[in-house]
Amino acid sequence: MSRTAAILAAAMTASAACATAGPATDPHSFSRPAEVAVRHLDLDLSVDFAAQRLVGSAVLHLDRKVATAPLRLDTRDLEISSVHLDSSLEAQPFTLAAAAGILGQELTIPLAPGTRTVRVVYRTKPEAAALQWLSPSQTAGGQRPFLFTQSQAILARTWVPCQDSPGVRMTYAATIRAPKELLAVMSATNPLATSVDGVFRFAMTHPIPSYLLALAVGDLEFRALGDRAGVYAEPSVAGKAAWELADTEKMIAAAEELYGPYRWERYDILVLPPSFPFGGMENPRLTFATPTILAGDRSLVALVAHELAHSWSGNLVTNATWDDFWLNEGFTTYFENRIMESVYGRDYSEMLAVLSRQELDDFVLEAGKESRATWLYGDSAKGDPDDAVGPIAYEKGYFLLRSLEEAAGRPAWDAFLRRYFDDHAFQSMTTAGLVEILRRDLLARNTEIEKKVDLQAWIYGPGVPEGAPVPATPAFATVDAELARYIAGARANQLATAGWVTQQWQRFLRGLPTAPATAQLADLDATFQFSASGNAEILADWFGRAIAANYEPANPAIEKFLKSVGRRKFLAPLYRALAQTPAGLARAKAIYAAARSGYHSVARGTIDGILGVKG
Ligand code: BES
Ligand code: ZN
Repeated sequence: MSRTAAILAAAMTASAACATAGPATDPHSFSRPAEVAVRHLDLDLSVDFAAQRLVGSAVLHLDRKVATAPLRLDTRDLEISSVHLDSSLEAQPFTLAAAAGILGQELTIPLAPGTRTVRVVYRTKPEAAALQWLSPSQTAGGQRPFLFTQSQAILARTWVPCQDSPGVRMTYAATIRAPKELLAVMSATNPLATSVDGVFRFAMTHPIPSYLLALAVGDLEFRALGDRAGVYAEPSVAGKAAWELADTEKMIAAAEELYGPYRWERYDILVLPPSFPFGGMENPRLTFATPTILAGDRSLVALVAHELAHSWSGNLVTNATWDDFWLNEGFTTYFENRIMESVYGRDYSEMLAVLSRQELDDFVLEAGKESRATWLYGDSAKGDPDDAVGPIAYEKGYFLLRSLEEAAGRPAWDAFLRRYFDDHAFQSMTTAGLVEILRRDLLARNTEIEKKVDLQAWIYGPGVPEGAPVPATPAFATVDAELARYIAGARANQLATAGWVTQQWQRFLRGLPTAPATAQLADLDATFQFSASGNAEILADWFGRAIAANYEPANPAIEKFLKSVGRRKFLAPLYRALAQTPAGLARAKAIYAAARSGYHSVARGTIDGILGVKG
């Protein structure tokens, strides 16, 4: 068998039913878009803060491919009151299957011969997993409630009955009825100010997958950052957010220069209250972001580059199933790095690459270098696709693309990526499909590339393949030298750290022994005031060391952090570190008991697992 055939054969086996060009079957959705596909959604929802419910209807516009097939939708925890065909007021029969865990309940609606649209009248449950209802005290302003959604990966079905599969795209329009003192925003055209009656109308005219449906309602203010970009935040945060994110227009320009036009007209950022469970979420036209990126020195804006990059990798060319998740995140991590290089220079972007490589190596070491969990191609069919979030999809994906760049040369590689986004815009992509395109295009033009980059090993194999790039940067050589002096016995105040940026401090903290002596930590804390840092990344790294070394003076700060921040990436390692000792576990459980209700369901699910708490 030729090498090409071998790779394709492996790809086909690994992706089971995913033919390279045809539609992929998605194990996480009950929908059957090959029979009936939803092409457009009209939402009409009232936001009821008192009852913690969205109440209203969804009209689904259908593309019927198999005349006799019913419409099958994904739902989870929805209370459906009636279903109507087209404009009929008469309620139609439907079946709601028994709940199947995280997949929820299949909703089957028989269609009449001429049916073009289906209207589902429903309301969400207070515990809907995508929604987080915040009391005024959980916001920066403390005066008004707040609601936000997080639909990725398979939570859109907890607030909209839909074909909740990334391989299905639809346009949408929405009418949102909110308390009139609040502003509603969506992954769509957005208002700049509150409306007199609290009614907001939205449109997303580009077809998007359901995981990009997003809504937030709160006391929000808009600040323009330029012609195409702006920021929404609570009034007390808006000024700081606008300052921190001032380079957004430069990033858009850099991204366009690299891989073609930004196709979503505007790019705005919504800075959420601190319970937002992710760093960022690439909701089209409106990235949702954690306030923990507001470090006060613009040092954490790579997150904006990342979410912006998803406007190409992910939102234009979308992973067909969650096992192809690395196509979204690996390409985006690569693109993020290129934007950062272009706006801030190679020395800066190489720091990010070195930190990336270290996270990847640590993960592989922990998981085992033969572990199935270290393949790029995912294995989530039986589990929760959210578990795929981690250094493999992101960092291993990044290093595969960087290997291809280095083997092909930047001009050929960039031209390839540009064609890739243009040719497959607004389509979904399987892993096998990407391999085929790579071989047909990039690899066919230069047969040397494949001698250097073993696609099979990278995608359908474990660990980090031989010859993977090992980035290095003088900015970190300096840090490593000081670190060596410190470990050899120098005092903290003897170290030459003047002018260090956040990433250098991250390098320093991550390079410390896993559990330094408490006297050493006290010396570091007294000199550098880590426990009082206003930078969440530095705090999280520092707290990790403090917990491992049982450095008690950091305890109040750790507790405060865990009780005020809901970003899962920070919470999970800290709770995991605490759970290592009986005393730590007891503390973790006490903190969690107080903090849990302030976390989004996505974070609660993860921390419940770590602490063995029943959800
Ligand atoms: N799309 C992801 C977040 C996500 C992935 C949510 C899977 C649910 C399921 C987003 O683009 C992301 O990667 N966020 C990162 C930020 C980043 C700079 C790596 C995060 O939240 O930490
Ligand atoms: Zn991402």
